Amino acid sequence: MSIFYLIHAPFAIDERLDQWRACCDMKKAGKTRFVGLANYRESHIAEIKNAGLPMPDANQIELHPWFQRPELISFLRRKNISIIAYSSLLPLANWRGKPGQNSGKPDDMKLEGMALDSSFKMMAAKYSVTEAQLLLKWGLQKGYAVLPKTVDESRMRENLDLQHFIIDDQDMAAFDVMDRGDGVAWHAGDPSSGL
Ligand SMILES: NC(=O)c1ccc[n+]([C@@H]2O[C@H](COP(=O)([O-])OP(=O)(O)OC[C@H]3O[C@@H](n4cnc5c(N)ncnc54)[C@H](OP(=O)(O)O)[C@@H]3O)[C@@H](O)[C@H]2O)c1
Repeated sequence: MSIFYLIHAPFAIDERLDQWRACCDMKKAGKTRFVGLANYRESHIAEIKNAGLPMPDANQIELHPWFQRPELISFLRRKNISIIAYSSLLPLANWRGKPGQNSGKPDDMKLEGMALDSSFKMMAAKYSVTEAQLLLKWGLQKGYAVLPKTVDESRMRENLDLQHFIIDDQDMAAFDVMDRGDGVAWHAGDPSSGL
């Protein structure tokens, strides 16, 4: 039995509802504990609801201070769908590689993260934590599950060590105005359907 089964993206226009029906059947048959989606927007989830199918347990989406998706977040909360953040560490200068390395993140954003006076560096220094810890804690304090990826054991420990500090209300408010309204790791749109 698997714990969680997710549909990676809403691209299969004609089969999208059938895919979701199959997930719900797997859960009903006890083959997985939870079923969910990734990269689904409000319209895709509304499609599931309009078809009278069970709602997903979670939606896994790109979420970090530069891409905060307030409308989608409040929609998911209203529908009681858990939110799983991915690419939480995207603002880091080294996210998926240095400038010049192909990661899907533009070089100017990478260089921005290298600035010694970047807001994340300054705020992380205030709490005596790393920028990665600050970004992950932001996600947790927003109520999201986070799933950072690293190939390095010491960074893995660092990413798990988040209990000893709390970002204060003033700094959480400072994060609120950092939203740039656009995805980097995954484009927010759905080119396959126009939905
Ligand atoms: N559902 C979807 O469509 C979707 C899309 C994208 C990602 N995901 C999932 O989300 C998870 C996160 O993936 P992600 O790659 O997008 O983003 P991420 O976890 O936000 O960032 C990973 C990058 O950050 C670096 N890193 C990790 N911890 C660090 C630390 N403490 N200090 C400095 N650098 C650190 C990693 O380098 P090192 O490895 O060298 O440490 C890597 O370059 C993965 O499990 C992935 O499968 C899902």
